[in-house]
Amino acid sequence: MKKKEIIIAPSILASDFANLQKECEMLNRSDADWFHIDVMDGVFVPNISFGMPVIKAIKKHAEKPMDVHLMIVQPERYIKDFKEAGADLLTVHLEASTHLHRTVQEIKAAGMKAGVSINPHTSVSLLEDILADIDLVLVMSVNPGFGGQSFIENTYSKVEELREMAGSLNPDLIIEVDGGVNIQNATELIAAGANALVAGSFVFKSANPEQTITELKNA
Ligand code: DX5
Ligand code: ZN
Repeated sequence: MKKKEIIIAPSILASDFANLQKECEMLNRSDADWFHIDVMDGVFVPNISFGMPVIKAIKKHAEKPMDVHLMIVQPERYIKDFKEAGADLLTVHLEASTHLHRTVQEIKAAGMKAGVSINPHTSVSLLEDILADIDLVLVMSVNPGFGGQSFIENTYSKVEELREMAGSLNPDLIIEVDGGVNIQNATELIAAGANALVAGSFVFKSANPEQTITELKNA
């Protein structure tokens, strides 16, 4: 049987911000599929990362799709701005969007793929009525806000449950896992039904990030 294709999305948050162009060029050369861009507002999560000017700067050098993960309250306020900054896929948190269905429709109308993310404490069952409308679910395997945290083991069963639910509601659903991903848990996550993996520290803090990406790609 042909091995299923896994999307690898290294998280820029763990890269060297003083050398962003170099980091982008490394990702362009590598087996990475997407650039994962973490936007934090200091309200939804207890940390602030970066916003539009930095995303625009990355876009100038990125030759692969930009997977933008919004950890901000009321994400619907900025949909057009993120499109203009270069987002190809825009993911909002279920916990941060009161009118999630409307937000998802607006993301798609703006010409982007739409993703919904859930925090570790949020039940997969809450996605049932939005699943058919979205391209991707981002399952958080750490509490969002910081890179370098350890992976929460309960994620495997959430991914399994979600893949089962997607079977009838959205067979093409991309299930992406974010937080504490490494070569050890990657294989088990893929077996559980994940087909996109975000990795920050594991890639950028390794001796050879390009090779680490290849290892994840072949996990
Ligand atoms: C966490 C972010 C992640 C983070 C992953 O809030 O959403 O994308 O950068 O970093 P690692 O892989 O180091 O856990
Ligand atoms: Zn993320």
